[in-house]
Amino acid sequence: ASGGDLVGRRVVVSAGGTREPLDPVRFLGNRSSGKQGHALAVAAAQRGARVTLVTSAPADLPGIDVVPVETALQLRDAVHAAAADCDVVVMAAAVADFRPASYAPAKIKKSHDAPADGAPDDSAPVIALVRNPDILAELVERRGGADSPVIVGFAAETGDGDGSVLEHGRAKLARKGCDVLVVNEVGEDKTFGADDNTVTILRRDSDEGVEVGPASKAVVSDAVWDVVAGLL
Ligand code: C5P
Repeated sequence: ASGGDLVGRRVVVSAGGTREPLDPVRFLGNRSSGKQGHALAVAAAQRGARVTLVTSAPADLPGIDVVPVETALQLRDAVHAAAADCDVVVMAAAVADFRPASYAPAKIKKSHDAPADGAPDDSAPVIALVRNPDILAELVERRGGADSPVIVGFAAETGDGDGSVLEHGRAKLARKGCDVLVVNEVGEDKTFGADDNTVTILRRDSDEGVEVGPASKAVVSDAVWDVVAGLL
């Protein structure tokens, strides 16, 4: 960790898994706890940055401007608003790729009367989905001149134990066009909700990756900021 190397910098961090509502009581979600994103926000503040944290996870972090969100569309609006005038955007949020095509304003019932003859219908509902915008891709698209922010993406990959996680990471970095990609291997017992993380930090302008961990999410955060600070 290096003291005040982010003094005078404005950073935006998104964190947590989005929740895509089906009806007033149900949502489609994922296993992201928000811990890595929150640790990144705290580490940046400790290094002197002004931090906006856009998160779907409960956060009571003194000195950090927290913007609570729930859905991908809310997270998108909040990130773009905060990113308008900043030096770094870190997309650590696990944004749902899809959301339900429609929202049922009343709770979806197990059994409902068929519209045709009024007989009880116990058939299982089919949930249609539509694509959410790729917020990271939008940030890359909107990137302007020399004062554009450094854009950091995350890639959660489930590997097959054959080095494919890093291969996917390299391909994703090229495809997404961000400056830095933090690649982590995920699975039911890995990363999500855990206090430790193991990542490889890839840069667009270098073939070398920085491997970190297993280490606390605080230590992983400082390694990410070390790389980002070198790009500012
Ligand atoms: O392609 P993939 O979803 O694996 O990319 C992950 C990265 O893209 C993360 O940084 C995530 O925050 C971001 N993302 C996004 N909007 C989406 C999906 C992912 O910004 N709809």
